[in-house]
Parts: sequence; structure tokens; C-alpha cells
Amino acid sequence: MSMSKNNQAGCVLPEGLRRYYLDAMDIQVWQDLNAAQQVLQQEAPVVQAAAPTNPQVAYQPPADIETPGDRATWAELERAVAECTKCELHESRTQAVFGVGNHNADLLIIGEAPGRDEDLQGEPFVGRAGQLLNAMLAAIGFQREQVYIANILKCRPPNNRDPSPEEAACCHPWLQQQIDLVNPKVILAIGRIAAHNLLNTEASVGSMRSRQHSYNGIPLIVSYHPAY
Ligand code: URA
Repeated sequence: MSMSKNNQAGCVLPEGLRRYYLDAMDIQVWQDLNAAQQVLQQEAPVVQAAAPTNPQVAYQPPADIETPGDRATWAELERAVAECTKCELHESRTQAVFGVGNHNADLLIIGEAPGRDEDLQGEPFVGRAGQLLNAMLAAIGFQREQVYIANILKCRPPNNRDPSPEEAACCHPWLQQQIDLVNPKVILAIGRIAAHNLLNTEASVGSMRSRQHSYNGIPLIVSYHPAY
């Protein structure tokens, strides 16, 4: 991540606002990420995902669920997600919310599930949480268009309840194929649901922050959800 005040497209946050968002994200040391990553690689313990004892990961979707094969293109994948009826959430959704952003992004952001605004507009993080996410990204020198944004679930759970383990498991093949296609350098899991599902743990977000984890060999970091 570039750690400049201005992002690459020249978007400038007023210094006071930038400091405000950095404080909100509990970022106190401001340094070049290349240097920070080198330090992380040398010093920070890499926490591997735990053995799959958590029922959220142990759950296997029914065998008759069809997913595009390993070679699915973005268009094939998006079409399959739009038509997905793997779980009952398809009955209450306005539309599936696939994901958005740079297909070649270094940074893949994974949230929880679409909310009301996302369900209506068909794009992740467009409501209030999305506005804050954009501001958080700007504070670390990124524009939204530079990253890829997806969710654990592609469909909105009624009343924004937590995704069930079965829903998360049904949706996981879609997310996995997005991860494979983007092939990011870093995954940022935002919020408890994303972190728990990706790392197969029930640890608190607070305890998972400030450490480098690994998702199938991809460095993964955890932060609070903007809605929180
Ligand atoms: N919260 C999420 O986790 N994802 C969205 O897309 C919107 C809000």
C-alpha cells in the first residue's frame, strides 16, 4: 500500500480529516508499506488458519451445487452468481451483489454481506459503511477503483442478520474463485464475520488486528468493519 497523503489519482484528504480516519483505524505509525511489510515478514509471526474444526468451514455444500469450473472467467462467474439459488437468500434478495473493482488489484477487501443499499444497487459497500470505507482507503492513499471489494455473502440476509454457517459455506466457492482470479498480494478482512470465515476462528477482531495472518498462502490482515 502506498502510504502517501495523496493517492495515485491525486485525491487529497485534508490533513485533519486524514488524521481523524487514521486515528479511527488506530493507525499511529505512518510509514511506507514496503518497509512495513519487510518488517512484518521478518518479525511478525504469520498466523495460519486453524485446522478446520469450526463448523463454519467443516460444512460442505450439497454435492448437487453447480459452480463454474476452475477456468471460469469473470463474466462466467458473475453470470453464475447472478443466477445462484444455492441457499434461501436468493428468495429475498433484489439481486446478487457480485463484487467490484480492479480485477488485478494488489489489495482485496472482503466484507460481510450486502446491506439494504447494496442489495438495491448491486454493488458492495455503497451505503454509509461504504462511504467510510472509501474514506479509510483514501487515508491510506488508495482510491476505491484501485482495489477489489467483495463480501463473504453475495446476497443480503434479511434484516442484516449475521450470515449462517450454511449460507457462508454455500457462497464460499464464488468468493474463492474471485480470490483466485484477482490473485491479490494482500487480503484485508473487514469485520468479525469476514475474519472468522476466512481464518476459521472465533477470535475477537481486536486480538486479530496488528498481526499478519495467512489465507491459503496469501497474507491477510484484519480490521474493524466500518459499520462498527
Ligand atoms: N457491509 C458489508 O460487509 N458489505 C457490504 O457490501 C456493505 C456493508
